[in-house]
Amino acid sequence: MTETQPVAFPQDRTCPYHPPTGYDPLRTDRPLSRITLFDGTPAWMVSGHTAARALLADPRLSTDRTHPRFPAITARFAAVRNKRAALLGVDDPEHRAQRRMMIPSFTLKRATELRPRIQQVVDERLDAMIAQGPPAELVSAFALPVPSTVICALLGVPYADHDFFEEQSRRLLRGPAGEDVMDAREQLESYFDALIDQKDKQREPGDGVLDELVHQRLREGEMDREELIALALILLVAGHETTANMISLGTYTLLRHPDRLAELRGDPALLPTAVEELMRLLSIADGLLRMATEDIEVAGTTIRAGDGVVFATSVINRDEDVYPDPDSLDWHRPARHHVAFGFGIHQCLGQNLARAELEIALRSLFERLPTLHLAAPADEIPFKPGDTIQGMLELPVTW
Ligand code: HEM
Repeated sequence: MTETQPVAFPQDRTCPYHPPTGYDPLRTDRPLSRITLFDGTPAWMVSGHTAARALLADPRLSTDRTHPRFPAITARFAAVRNKRAALLGVDDPEHRAQRRMMIPSFTLKRATELRPRIQQVVDERLDAMIAQGPPAELVSAFALPVPSTVICALLGVPYADHDFFEEQSRRLLRGPAGEDVMDAREQLESYFDALIDQKDKQREPGDGVLDELVHQRLREGEMDREELIALALILLVAGHETTANMISLGTYTLLRHPDRLAELRGDPALLPTAVEELMRLLSIADGLLRMATEDIEVAGTTIRAGDGVVFATSVINRDEDVYPDPDSLDWHRPARHHVAFGFGIHQCLGQNLARAELEIALRSLFERLPTLHLAAPADEIPFKPGDTIQGMLELPVTW
């Protein structure tokens, strides 16, 4: 590690699919650098691929966000520090117990079984978009409703409530103020409280994951209501916002790389590896957070107990030792070991589902609309700020 001025984190991207240019020093200073958070607090940034995978699997790094020294990347997240979360907010052994309960609903087999349903949702959205256009705004017409409908079906949440929970998810992730985050969380908690009541009153469970949890775990006393609400919240929010951003930003990126898009069209068998490569390049969850609970030696440096540790996935996924010519899109590189879904015990629970959704959404979109192109100058299309999940705010397209 060289002694340079700490980089400020987070920063806004200048191109929506590349890390902020302000992170360049992190790319040369692998695997570990000092950074400064929004309030001036120093923290560590992990930027090397090998070190990142080792540290993300290290039990001495905690995700317990209620700890007063847990790193906050914006004032609005600092405001909700005292709130307990499920899965991503708890360490083992509590985490292991929650994860074990959820795994059967998110296996590769389950995601494969869901493919026909996902295809149906995608087809319906494309039919509607084609009937109304061109042009169209792809985020609201396609990228958001597809994963939103799918996660509702999987969980047993009525899609009719989507305006409500999409808006609260937006406030939860992007504020703007701490009060928005608090209020959005409370509103979602009350919503799930009522939904759980409703499911509990039914004699026979419906076929959603939440129905199963209410009838098998809550009633049997294996899980309390607060824990179930926290689980429902993370599954719903993580289950639609992230994938929606990957669809919108993935489409934008493909449209900006016409040669790669043509190659993909010519050989659809490339699609599964193309999805991995897009996940790697776009790295939309670009700042995974941890706090050290003990001193940890990394490449001759000591991370002290209580220090905040941030993983910039966009930088880690561009480690030249692992990915030659890392800023380019290459469907033939083995991209699968990227950390865009995280790594270790908290590695994305929904990754099989997300992969299935991305493959089906992108393949169908470009098959049905072979002349799809941007309906505004590429550099004028707004995208999300650096302190949240990355993606397009809107995506005007035509065909
Ligand atoms: C392309 C879309 C997605 C991306 C990029 C993504 C990314 C991630 C990442 C990076 C993590 C680890 C965070 C950390 O270690 O700090 C994570 C965890 C998680 N994701 Fe995803 N995710 C996606 C889709 C989904 C979907 C569809 C679901 C469905 C419910 C989901 C549910 C979760 C859950 C529950 C966790 C926490 C797991 C745990 O702590 O054990 N994600 N995701």
